[in-house]
Amino acid sequence: MTLKETIAAMLAEVQAFQAENTDQLEAFRIKYLSKKGLIPGLFAEFKHVLPEERKAMGVLLNELKDKAQERLDAFRELNTTDETSTQRLDLSLPSGEAGGARHPISLVRNQINGIFKRLGFIISEGPEIEDDFHNFTALNFPEEHPARDMQDTFFLHKNPDVALRTHTSSVQVRVMEAGKLPIRIIAPGRVFRNEAISARAHCIFHQVEGLYIDKDVSFADLKQTLYYFAQELFGPETKIRFRPSYFPFTETSAEMDVSCNICGGKGCNICKYSGWVEILGCGMVDPNVLEACNIDSNMYTGFAFGMGIERITMMKYQINDLRLFFENDIRFLKQFESAI
Ligand code: DAH
Repeated sequence: MTLKETIAAMLAEVQAFQAENTDQLEAFRIKYLSKKGLIPGLFAEFKHVLPEERKAMGVLLNELKDKAQERLDAFRELNTTDETSTQRLDLSLPSGEAGGARHPISLVRNQINGIFKRLGFIISEGPEIEDDFHNFTALNFPEEHPARDMQDTFFLHKNPDVALRTHTSSVQVRVMEAGKLPIRIIAPGRVFRNEAISARAHCIFHQVEGLYIDKDVSFADLKQTLYYFAQELFGPETKIRFRPSYFPFTETSAEMDVSCNICGGKGCNICKYSGWVEILGCGMVDPNVLEACNIDSNMYTGFAFGMGIERITMMKYQINDLRLFFENDIRFLKQFESAI
């Protein structure tokens, strides 16, 4: 076969080449275009070509080389387009048959709201950006008092008077200030704390605050209200217990535990084998708080409570990582489709 015929045959091969995957494409490159490949081999033979044929042969050889390179590039391009379109696919998207599902935090918040509404509480809301008075001072956190460190605060504009609320207790103050008595409210909402994010803590979470103020409200009223609440939320077998605690805005203060709804109080890893899970803080509203909000503490008494929705939701649905609530992972959220 003359060199001319060899070039023509190789050109036909190159043009007929098809690649189905990157391995085949790489094999093609090595066979024809690599340093020791067939086409550079033909270039090496070029020196044996008669001078009068060199020009024409040079044109043919270069054409072969260009065609091989073109073929390689064309398939590479196809392949990369393939890869980018795969990369662009969001594999966590629903496949099309899915309906919506309520977020578990909304589900539990709605349940909590419903229970207290049946007891005659109404829903109040307040701003997420608060001033020092409503978040701390009126709630009996004296300035410079170490109790302020219980809640690491996000301040705005370098102005220590403006912050993201650290708890929904700030809504209590706003409702009391409004001056309409008696008061029976719950305040669900988002709160913010400067905390490192982990399975058990987040810088954004949700609370429900409760406040009941009237003449002759006692700790017995507080207990009965919260007992009803716990049984409605976790089931009629649920037991409650109170432990003494400290909050600046209540006196006396307590924390309430419910019997573990996973093991029924026998002990499991959710309740750390104690049979009890802490779900809220509560107490009788401190007279200083009533006075700061212009309510006569000789005439009125009241109780307050505050709970974290995430913690309760984790317990109800046996979720062990709080971060799941904020990631919007469709595989997590889909599990709540049937819940209402
Ligand atoms: N504000 C408290 C917190 O965020 C929770 C709380 C405890 C609210 C006791 C209350 C209460 O109203 O009486 O940790």
